[in-house]
Amino acid sequence: MNFSLTEEHLMIRQAARDFAQNDCKPGVIERDTHQTFPAEQVKKMAELGFLGMMVPTEYGGSGLDTLSYAIAMEEISKIDASTSVCMSVNNSLVCYGLEAFGTEEQKRKYLVPLAKGEKIGAFCLSEPEAGSDATSQKTTAIDKGDHYLLNGTKNWITNGGSASTYLVIAQTDAAKGHRGINVLIVEKGMPGFEIAKKEDKLGIRASDTHTLLFSDVKVPKENRIGEDGFGFKFAMKTLSGGRIGIAAQALGIAAGAYELAAEYAKQRKAFGKEIINHQAIAFKLADMATRIEAARLLVYKAAVLKDQGKNYDQASAMAKVFASETAMWVTTEAVQVHGGYGYVKEYHVERLMRDAKITQIYEGTSEVQRIVISRGVLA
Ligand code: CAA
Repeated sequence: MNFSLTEEHLMIRQAARDFAQNDCKPGVIERDTHQTFPAEQVKKMAELGFLGMMVPTEYGGSGLDTLSYAIAMEEISKIDASTSVCMSVNNSLVCYGLEAFGTEEQKRKYLVPLAKGEKIGAFCLSEPEAGSDATSQKTTAIDKGDHYLLNGTKNWITNGGSASTYLVIAQTDAAKGHRGINVLIVEKGMPGFEIAKKEDKLGIRASDTHTLLFSDVKVPKENRIGEDGFGFKFAMKTLSGGRIGIAAQALGIAAGAYELAAEYAKQRKAFGKEIINHQAIAFKLADMATRIEAARLLVYKAAVLKDQGKNYDQASAMAKVFASETAMWVTTEAVQVHGGYGYVKEYHVERLMRDAKITQIYEGTSEVQRIVISRGVLA
């Protein structure tokens, strides 16, 4: 077992760190306040190759491993989780799904511009009544011979307004249960496809989360990914990798809050000394550092298992549940270390605390991760 990162991983970490400091930090509070999509940051991520990190170079990607992606996610999330979620969905849900299961034509037409960051993608599974219970899809994709007729509503879709390519999960044959579900590639602008309400969120406020409406949208048959009925397995397999990205995001949020708390504690004086010299604060920071390191080991392990071609379903669920709970705990403690300053926007930790919460919810709640883990344990 070797815990050292390679030269390449260290270079990627530095590049992501520089991007976060130079391009994401300026304006991060304003973008959060006004819910402004990080368009400039996304453009820069495209230039850096961060939007198709694991896609082979022949399809416009950077041809890197999952560990590189997790490291970059961690660094960017220390500063700006709204930007990193856009990156995460594009990489691990949309690009991965197309690369692993798409046809050559689908890859050339849709994957290449997504991997280059010329376009961005969205993954559309959740519905008003189908979140954790993902088989209960009410959106229908009725087989009409050469096309599917798509009808329904999708909720809380990341990149909902800014994407150009949408992977939409829908029920074709309800009698077949999860085996009757398909995944279709839908393009922005297809007649009947409407980008509806933008959500006003607690955290990741600069990310672009929408309700999407589909009303008799004609989707060509060649836009179905995989065999008829593959949609649910597609979603499960794709989300399994996506959870590594969100776990890395949670890790980054926690690490960012810890760094701010440690820095503050070294400067702030109370009762005659820097507060880091009070055991109440030093022990808090020690616990934060320990939990963050444990989360990092779980995230990196899940990434390495994926890179080794081994099963990573349980590992990614463990990484996500632990890292997201760590993020929530660490950010709350970081606000506490800052006292009153922690409660105002200028000091960043209140935003990190708000951003942490979503990591316990999206790409499978903590409860869903525990279902996945316990099934493995009981098997
Ligand atoms: N890989 C391959 N196949 C899998 C799989 C995996 N990881 N997990 C399940 N399957 C297969 C099973 O083998 C089974 O197939 P067979 O019947 O052929 O054997 C089939 O899928 C059904 O599996 P389950 O019986 O386990 O399904 P379930 O209904 O009990 O659901 C669940 C299990 C884990 C709760 C699942 O529904 C789930 O993960 N739900 C959460 C969904 C989710 O993450 N939603 C988030 C929305 S996306 C998002 O947030 C994106 C964003 O914008 C940020």
